Amino acid sequence: MEYSDLLIETHGRVAVIRLNRPKALNALNDNMMNELGDALYKFDADPAIGCIILTGSEKAFAAGADIAAMANYDYADTFGGNYIGRNWEHILNVRKPVIGAVSGFVLGGGCELAMMCDFLIASDTTKFGQPEIRVGVTPGAGGTQRLPRTIGKSKAMDMLLTARMIDAAEAERTGLVSRVVPADKLMEEAIAVGTTIAAMSVTVAMAIKDSVNRAFETTLTEGVRYERRYFHAAFGTPAQKEGMSAFLAKRAPNFDGL
Ligand code: HXC
Repeated sequence: MEYSDLLIETHGRVAVIRLNRPKALNALNDNMMNELGDALYKFDADPAIGCIILTGSEKAFAAGADIAAMANYDYADTFGGNYIGRNWEHILNVRKPVIGAVSGFVLGGGCELAMMCDFLIASDTTKFGQPEIRVGVTPGAGGTQRLPRTIGKSKAMDMLLTARMIDAAEAERTGLVSRVVPADKLMEEAIAVGTTIAAMSVTVAMAIKDSVNRAFETTLTEGVRYERRYFHAAFGTPAQKEGMSAFLAKRAPNFDGL
């Protein structure tokens, strides 16, 4: 796969998609978002891949939507052109696990894109912020919705209204990221975590992801019912037969292709 604004690698069953506009701190433009959607869908459909990592550079995961590209937009360009909706949310349709491995600036639309990943591993140099207010706009890719759900209203309001950045330690404390690692260990850690996930049954991983995401869209009772359907259905899968018989035989399970 050849892209102009992304770099692609695979490590066994783990795919790495790297945002790559270094001169603009990976500011997210239309072409990059189109390419990202294309790469995500290709890996989601590829049976040789069990987990996807989305990353940027050490200096910036992404410093936001491309301000130079949108500065002259008018309402016809944004509403009429379905700006954001047209190509930013492909990641939400990906059924396999997507880990965000972030470092440096994770700002504005970059933070919103990161929050669309299933979970985040951050380098200790990461800075998260929603500074849209400083350029005269609201967030537009879920910042006012996913941030308060993730870190609570008070911290989210503080970040959204003051544009202040939080560091990796504060991000971990507030639950925005699951792990913080030294910058030079970020990809090693992310690939190791991705490899662990990719060694599980991809079917079960997709069911867990879908079920967790349901928690944010429904009541507790309905969510637990939703989970129960997947749990019961798991007994019709080869993954359950393999996992449980491997446990009882005291051997490692082999979920390859399951
Ligand atoms: C376009 C950007 C950019 C952005 C940085 N650059 N962020 N270009 N859009 N979001 C470019 C700079 O113009 C500069 O280009 C180069 O990247 C390096 O940036 P510097 O500012 O020189 O670097 P530094 O001094 O280290 O400052 C880093 C920074 C700053 C603090 C991250 O660049 C910054 O504040 N960026 C904007 C952050 C922001 O407001 N993001 C939210 C955008 S709104 P040149 O050519 O001069 O070298 C948004 C809307 C989301 O995201 C809603 C919809 C999804």
